[in-house]
Amino acid sequence: MMEAPETGVADMHAMGLARHLRILLLLMPMLVAASSYAEDGHEGWLRYAHIDDPVVLRQYDGLPHRVLSLGTTPVAQAASTELVRGMESMLGSRLVAVQTLPQEDAFVLGTQTEVCHFLRNVCRQKALSGDAFAVVRVMQKGHVYWVIFGDEERGELYGVFHVLEQFASQKPIADASEAPAASVRWVNQWDNFDGSIERGYAGRSIFFDGGHVRADLSRVSEYGRLLASVGLNGCTVNNVNSDLRTLDPAMLRELARIADQLRPWGVRMSLSVDLSSPQIVDHLATFDPLDPAVVAWWQKTADEVYRLIPDFGGFVIKADSEGRLGPSKYGRTPAEAANVVARALRPHGGVVLYRGFVYNNHLDWHDLKADRARAGYDNFHALDGRFEPNVIIQIKHGPIDFQVREPLSPLFAALQHTSQAIELQVTQEYTGQQRHMVFLVPMWKAALDTDLRAQNRSTPVKEIVEGRSFHQPLGGFAGVVNVGLDTNWMHHPMAMSNLYGFGKLAWNPDLTSDEILDSWTRLTWGNNPKVVSTIDDLQRGSWHAYEEYSGPLGLGTLTNIIGIHYGPGIESAERNGWGQWLRADNKGIGIDRTVATGTGYIGQYPPELAKVYESLTTCPDELLLFMHHVPYNYVLHNGKTVVQHVYDSHYKGAATVATYAPRWEQLQGLIDEERYEKTLKLFMYQAGHAIVWRDAVSEWFLRMSGIADTRGRVGHYPNRIEAESMQADGYTSVDVTPWETASGGKAVVCNRAAACTLTVKLDRPVGSYKMAVQYFDLRVGDAQYELLLDGKPIAHWIADDILPPAVVDTQLDGSTSTRFTVSGIALKPGDTLMLRGTPNNGEPAPVDYIEIMK
Ligand code: GCU
Repeated sequence: MMEAPETGVADMHAMGLARHLRILLLLMPMLVAASSYAEDGHEGWLRYAHIDDPVVLRQYDGLPHRVLSLGTTPVAQAASTELVRGMESMLGSRLVAVQTLPQEDAFVLGTQTEVCHFLRNVCRQKALSGDAFAVVRVMQKGHVYWVIFGDEERGELYGVFHVLEQFASQKPIADASEAPAASVRWVNQWDNFDGSIERGYAGRSIFFDGGHVRADLSRVSEYGRLLASVGLNGCTVNNVNSDLRTLDPAMLRELARIADQLRPWGVRMSLSVDLSSPQIVDHLATFDPLDPAVVAWWQKTADEVYRLIPDFGGFVIKADSEGRLGPSKYGRTPAEAANVVARALRPHGGVVLYRGFVYNNHLDWHDLKADRARAGYDNFHALDGRFEPNVIIQIKHGPIDFQVREPLSPLFAALQHTSQAIELQVTQEYTGQQRHMVFLVPMWKAALDTDLRAQNRSTPVKEIVEGRSFHQPLGGFAGVVNVGLDTNWMHHPMAMSNLYGFGKLAWNPDLTSDEILDSWTRLTWGNNPKVVSTIDDLQRGSWHAYEEYSGPLGLGTLTNIIGIHYGPGIESAERNGWGQWLRADNKGIGIDRTVATGTGYIGQYPPELAKVYESLTTCPDELLLFMHHVPYNYVLHNGKTVVQHVYDSHYKGAATVATYAPRWEQLQGLIDEERYEKTLKLFMYQAGHAIVWRDAVSEWFLRMSGIADTRGRVGHYPNRIEAESMQADGYTSVDVTPWETASGGKAVVCNRAAACTLTVKLDRPVGSYKMAVQYFDLRVGDAQYELLLDGKPIAHWIADDILPPAVVDTQLDGSTSTRFTVSGIALKPGDTLMLRGTPNNGEPAPVDYIEIMK
């Protein structure tokens, strides 16, 4: 929320409106032209901003002005068009396309075979394979040719994007040769045919609407371009909880239109499919994978898919998980199911990504040996080596579900004769849903670099999924992205760094987090040193800050796990079948996963790592409560007790987030207004929501443990005035559930059509103060709030949507609790403060408390 405007704003609006309208009409044609250059985040990191600095431009002076593209396919065309577009936009130099090798300097684009034919020197270079590319400067007959080529055309396109990225980050162009770490570099979109997106936080689907593929697929092509620019080569376009009509022939014909849009960018479309499809689509008596009619059905269906989409990537399968049907219905194994589908795809070059996310969500919480984290390993390790060569097991990086911190899934080390892909979540389901800035690349890097020590040797996860550790034919990376129709794809301008970073890591997991961040910042926000260093600094520590105020010590994100996974909701994890328990009572907290006394999960790791986790002496603090159950006063390696660490880390995380907006304000004028304002608003919102998190979790620990905060913060808020303690006209007090998400467990609501008020007499010494109003912003309406001091309005705001779209209900809780802040308020003893709340469309202008700070 913005700082409050001055008084009388409404009147000024009315007076100025007519004048503004006239000016607007006069400027209309100009505005329309300018809007095509609007900095709304739409271009992502492909802004191709013009380079104004003559010194920087000079390094590109000698570059050719001709381009010869040797291929004729859509990918080849996309490569040359992109080079022309990028050079013109950044360097202002117009490349002229030529049909034959010119007798002057030129860029030459093609496949290895094509360029070798023309330029013999290139053939002496190391041969490329797969999606690799090379950029080579060759001299021939006194002319300079910059040759950009791949083994296939996709590599040629990647080479072009590489060159353009050099320009955008103002680096010189030089010879280069790169090959991706793995063949599968896919994104998964969890889009539904009705246009909604499961765990999507940036608008509706770019692919679907109303049960069909959208008529206008222009955003799909733009998405393909973004994906290709970071080397991503596949896109699964529909939800893993797949619509049962997906393989219906009529739907396949529609889906082929999406593949057409992605093809020029070298992105192969793939589909999530449900194993019961043979029964649903063609009414077979069974979907038993071993039934000959079912085998024939998958073959027939795969043939039809490839007839319509010759470059189809393959199928993603979620089965026997969270209510999806699977082979267990017939007593068959995941291997038997995956193999039948894989055999049908194999003649066409397709693969099956069978998800390792198979678990029972009806666990008995009374059973202290029950453990959801064990499920991946328990369900798959005995099947190692039983999968067809074109099956890849797609494994979430942690054994639970994309929590803010988890150890690595032990399944990676257990499958030594099976290809594997790591599934990472770009969409911020458990990490702030693109309303909180959380740069996830450091988390993924930590995962990829973790050495699981399988076979008592070095086996970092990145090398396992590259297929290198265990010599597997395939492997790779799947990122759940869920972009939407929001202009900037991911809602939070900073969230695009996660998509960029996912692509970069899938291409080269050895890149450092800082390298990735710095290039994303330059491409997205420009090369001004102050801009770059400020944004890099803000983003760099953001995962850690989020962990500090949401769920430290390996507890996972302490959100409402059976709801929308956004705000705090600690108790929701306990006493249900979902298995994300904290196992907390008034003595201690954490799950005992040891071999000695616990669930035995730790024994699923190779011995060296198991030893580290099994012992309290060596288990790292950051995973302590994931692995062990300890008393609240257990002393960590850092010297603090568990409970004091929880208090301190929540206060520290919230304090860090409070610095985001002021640090960002230092950049005003150095970046465009549109993205500046949008980001500022999100940072101010996040600062408020981090306080909601801090207080909910700290209060819950205080009540649970009965151990006070040694620094006296938790439970003592001397600057707060509880809404329910103020003099109310129309407002009534309600209990908030869960209790820890409102101060004192209570709030007030205005359940009448007219405005309600809360009044309090202040006794603050003379001075200038900052005021915060903690209220609940529900999606049902846009309630209005007004603060008045001695009858004079000092601030006014509307509770309009800044929350993720998943917040659909009318509930007062940790997801809807929001903070409005205004500073520079002059107070003296005896002032009367009034808060007026006007309900709107069922939103009862709820208030939790007012805080007045120096
Ligand atoms: C999480 C997520 C679900 C999703 C599931 C999956 O549980 O909340 O929406 O379907 O993961 O990955 O299959």
